[in-house]
Order: sequence, then structure tokens, then C-alpha cells
Amino acid sequence: MRPWPDDRIAFGGDYNPEQWPRGVWADDMRLMRDAGVSFVTLGVFSWSWLEPTKGEYEFGWLDEIMTMLHDNDIAVDLATATATPPPWLSAAYPEILPVDREGRVRWPGSRQAWCPSSPVYRDAALDLTDRMATRYHDHPALAMWHVSNEYACHNLPCYCDTCAAGFRRWLERRYGTLDDLNAAWGTAFWSQRYSAWDDVLPPRLSTTFGNPTHELDYHRFGSDTLLEFFLAEKEVIRRHSPDVPVTTNFMTLSSFRLLDYHDWAPHQDVVSTDHYVVDALEHPRAELSFHGDLTRGLAGGAPWMLMEQSTSAVNWQPVNPAKLPGDTILDSLTHVARGADAIGFFQWRQSRAGSEKFHSALVPHAGEDSDRFREVCELGAVAGRLGELVGSRVEADVALLWDYEAEWAVAGPCMPSAELDYVTAAHTVHRLLRDRGVVCDVVHPDTDLSRYRVVVVPTLYLVSDAAAAAVAAAAEAGAHVVVTYFSGIADAHDHVRLGGYPGAFRDLLGVRVEEFFPLRVGEVVGLEGGGQGTVWSEDARLAGATPVLAYAAGPLAGRPAAARREVGAGVAWYLGTLPDDDTLATLLGRVMAEAGVAAVADVPAGVEVVRRSGDSGSWVFVLNHTDAPCEVAISGHDLVTGADVGPVTTVAPRTAAVVREG
Ligand code: GAL
Repeated sequence: MRPWPDDRIAFGGDYNPEQWPRGVWADDMRLMRDAGVSFVTLGVFSWSWLEPTKGEYEFGWLDEIMTMLHDNDIAVDLATATATPPPWLSAAYPEILPVDREGRVRWPGSRQAWCPSSPVYRDAALDLTDRMATRYHDHPALAMWHVSNEYACHNLPCYCDTCAAGFRRWLERRYGTLDDLNAAWGTAFWSQRYSAWDDVLPPRLSTTFGNPTHELDYHRFGSDTLLEFFLAEKEVIRRHSPDVPVTTNFMTLSSFRLLDYHDWAPHQDVVSTDHYVVDALEHPRAELSFHGDLTRGLAGGAPWMLMEQSTSAVNWQPVNPAKLPGDTILDSLTHVARGADAIGFFQWRQSRAGSEKFHSALVPHAGEDSDRFREVCELGAVAGRLGELVGSRVEADVALLWDYEAEWAVAGPCMPSAELDYVTAAHTVHRLLRDRGVVCDVVHPDTDLSRYRVVVVPTLYLVSDAAAAAVAAAAEAGAHVVVTYFSGIADAHDHVRLGGYPGAFRDLLGVRVEEFFPLRVGEVVGLEGGGQGTVWSEDARLAGATPVLAYAAGPLAGRPAAARREVGAGVAWYLGTLPDDDTLATLLGRVMAEAGVAAVADVPAGVEVVRRSGDSGSWVFVLNHTDAPCEVAISGHDLVTGADVGPVTTVAPRTAAVVREG
């Protein structure tokens, strides 16, 4: 396999030349060279421009632009163009259209209006993929294949009859017999016992709450179905193009949880993903860092590609604020700090028509004479100076477990509290560690945990026996394991583990919970020592652990809110509520100190530090998200400014330093 990106941090983004007259293309090449663009993603939504009517192809424009890009030394990440069907296809075969939970057809007119199970759509997409791979497999501009686009975005779940049939086949493969299906789904409840496979339907709109395991399996089925589709496209590409890496862009933004990327990642030659800063979040940049650590976890620690982000505003929030000066570079270097070897954007030139005309781009509506484009050029120059980093890896002593199945289950119907959100505990712990200069790998519970000093298990509601045993084994072997509230409650079928919560982790933690006491919206519970718990509390009795924090008031006054138990060579920590930031930071500080986890460097609030290291050295990223200069004790050569720095490095507000140590 040809490696790519190879000797530089790739810089570029989606390029949609079909939206522009030919006269603009030459200007695009000039501006791309000015900006230091090294790659573009081409053809993502081009099907109707490549095959305007059935069987009639217009590849000439794509041939031309591929050659122009190559002549300008710009590599192409070529899409299969199968993300959105042309109008003639849905008009001729309306059965390819997806159907929502209420049985409504989702008509063409937007994008990605295709059913994930449709054999008709699949045949048409594979045919186009075959033509693309046949035509371009040996084009000198081709560096990577980009299959479809953000699978599942907009068209999953689909509840049509084709999906119903596919779901039944998937269930037969998973369970073998109806008895096993009935047992797994707990169909003794509410008279749901199935006596024929044909009676099983997708979890369509019903009278009231659905069966949680039915819904969980529908998530699994959806992810598996699209993965099969991806693999079929990849297989077609491989026949023509065995050496060019293949990827599809994930959406590891933590609000997108439709696919189990843990299953998908091993099939990517390079893991690539998209990320957009969500302004409405309380801590948008902490979420950005979390996303980077999650993507790196999916990539097994290897470098990954940031395929898309925005230079400034997006257009899909109720209000879309512009990024502040410097943030295009700072956000990009945050991704690189956390393991990205490519900085991509949606899109090169801001559209003048269509639903994304107010989405920012590398070349804004204002044109090249704009602060945004000047910042883009500066970023391109910085990316050009970071080549020595390519292939290096991020160092982390802490693992934070992340499992899409657990999130699907916890988001299921009828939980003890709608305030229980899968990401809250994970994000909070990650943010507080980031604030103290500690980096986490966000990894699936199946990951080998043996090299981590600390393992954080946040709200891992559903956990397999094997994963629970691996967490316990990590503690036995010397790790400090931190298990937060509502973890270990259910098994892989979403059946509650009996005998007292938190079932799978009860023995490890030395804690037994008889009843939950979820906190109402906005309610807090006092903790001894002056802190407060939010979101959750539970009636925990110690069975081998010693108390670390206790409730100071309310029905649980005096009962433990956090506890510690020595296990083999390690320690298991239990956290039964979500404490305020100060209290939790103090507790995490104690865990890190006991586990011997040191910060990359001491940093003031709002400043991130991350170390990447490789055969040729190590580099510390100092990312100053604040409006004041910061000082960090790091020495070496700053690749951003080109200056030697240290023993204390000063980093200006909203800028980053990338310091080669030594
Ligand atoms: C992504 C998508 C792009 C563009 C972008 C806008 O989800 O892949 O095509 O729509 O969002 O933020």
C-alpha cells in the first residue's frame, strides 16, 4: 500500500469545481498554490454530473481537473461519487428512497436520499464505483479513494420493507433460533413473543415505549448494513487499484453516534474523519480535543486524517457565529496535536448557490482579499513546516473507555433519568484532565489496557462480561481504574445484572447499590467538604471499599459518593455522582498522583499541552485558547514561528507553538 499522507502534513479540502464555470478553475489552481494546498477531495456529490442520464457518462470535466491538479502538484482524494444519487435514479426506482419511523418516504431534493439496504441503489453505486476505479486507478494525481461520504448521515435508520427483510436476515444470523431471539429481547414482557421470523419488524412508531433490545439491535443492524456497503465499494476499488489507500470519512463529532466506528475502523487504510465546532456546547474546544483522542483511539494510535472542518461559521446551527481570528489555525493544530497528519476542510470555494452557500470555506465569498484567506495561507505555510511530525504518535498514560453500543443502550427508552447522557461523565473527566495537561486515549473497551496507568470507565451502562473482566484485570495488574455512575448495569443484551448495582463492577469496586436516587433537573446534592453532586446519586453500601467522598445532605446523607478499593497491584475508584469541577479535579488529581501520571507540562486554565513523539524526536504542542499570553516550561525549536524557545515558552493569545524538544 502506498503511504499517504507521506512526507508532509496534508492540507486542503473538498473541491467542487462542477459548481463553477471553467474560467474559475485556473484561478483555483493559482490560489491553491498560494495557500499551500497539497490535497483536495474531489467528486463527493458529483454523480449527476458524471452520469447525467442513465448510462450516459461525462467524465471529461473530471479528467481535465484531475490533470490540472496534478500539474499543480496537488494530490487527489477521489470520491466514488456515490453519496447522493442523481434525480433520474430515484425517479426510475422510487423504492431506493428511505422511510422514517412514522412510515413517511424521504423524498429526493436534498442529499443522501437512499435506503441503506436497497439492492437497486447498491448495484447502481457499485457500477459507478467500478467505472471510477477503471478510469482513474492509474491517474498520477490519485493519492486516495474516498468511498461515499459520511455514511449514515441523513439516511439511517431507515424503516422501509427492504430494511425489515434485511433486519430479519441479520437477526437469524445473530440468534439462529426464535427461542434465542425471544430470550435476548426479553419478549416475555408485554406479550411480545415471536413465533415466526416474518412477524419481526423494525422498531417503527408504536403506541408507547419500544423494546430496548429490539431498538439496540436495530442500531447494530444499521451500522453493519452500511459497513457491508462500504466493504462492497472497497472491494470493487481494490480490483482495479490494489495499492492506493481507501478511506471513508467518519463523523467522530461526539453528537453523531449512528455507526459503531470501532467495527469500521479496521477496514480503513487510513482513518479519516470530519469535525465541526458546535458553538452551543458549553466547552466546544474541549469537545474538539475529545474528538481527536477518540479518532486516534479508533485508528489504534496511528496518525489519522482530519478530512473536513470549517474555516469559520457553519450553516446548520440556529445561529452560526464566525470563528475568531487565529481559530482556523488553532483548531487545526489541535487536531494535529491529537494525532492528525492531515488538515482538511469543507470546502475549497464557498458556494454561491445551494443550501451551503453560507457555510465558510477556504476561499470565502469576499475572495482572496480577505483576512480569512490570509489566515488560510498562513495555515498552509505552517502545515508545510510540520513535515517532520508525520508518522509520530501521541503519548498517553490514561485510557478512557468509549463504546457506541453502550451509548445506544443508555439512550434507549425508559431509563431512570433522562438527564443521564452517555457523554457527560466522559467529557467532564476528559476536560478536567486536559486542563491539567494530561492526555487520554479514548478507546473501545476491547482495547488492550495493559499499558495504561489509569483507566476511566464513564457511564459504561452496557458492558460485556469480557470487557468487565478486562477492566478488573487492568486493576489487578496495577492500573488505577475509575468507574463512574451507571456503569456495568446491563449485559450485552441490555438485561440488568442482578444482585445489586453496578453489577459488572460491583466486586471490583467493593460497592453495592440498592437503589438509584437520580437528581432532578438543576438539583444538586451537597457533599461533605463543601462540593456538590449533580445529575445522579445512588444508595451505595461499601463492601470492601473505603469512602472518599460522602453526601452531606438529602436522603443519602452520610453515604459514600466516591470510594476507593485496593485491588491486586492497583486501585479501583468508584464515583456515584457527577461532582462539581473543583471537587472532581481534586479527586482526579489524587488518582493521577497515586498512579504516577505526570502532566506533559503545567499549564494555566484554557491552555492545552500534548506531546507527539517518533523516531526522529518529540514535539510538544502548546495550544493557547485564552485571550492572554501564557508561559509554559518547554524548550526547543518552535516549528510555528521558526524560533528557538525556552526554558520558558511564551505563547500569544489564540495561537499555538509546536516545539521540537531538545
Ligand atoms: C459535512 C459534509 C459536507 C458538508 C459539511 C458542512 O457533514 O460531509 O459535505 O455538508 O458537513 O458542515
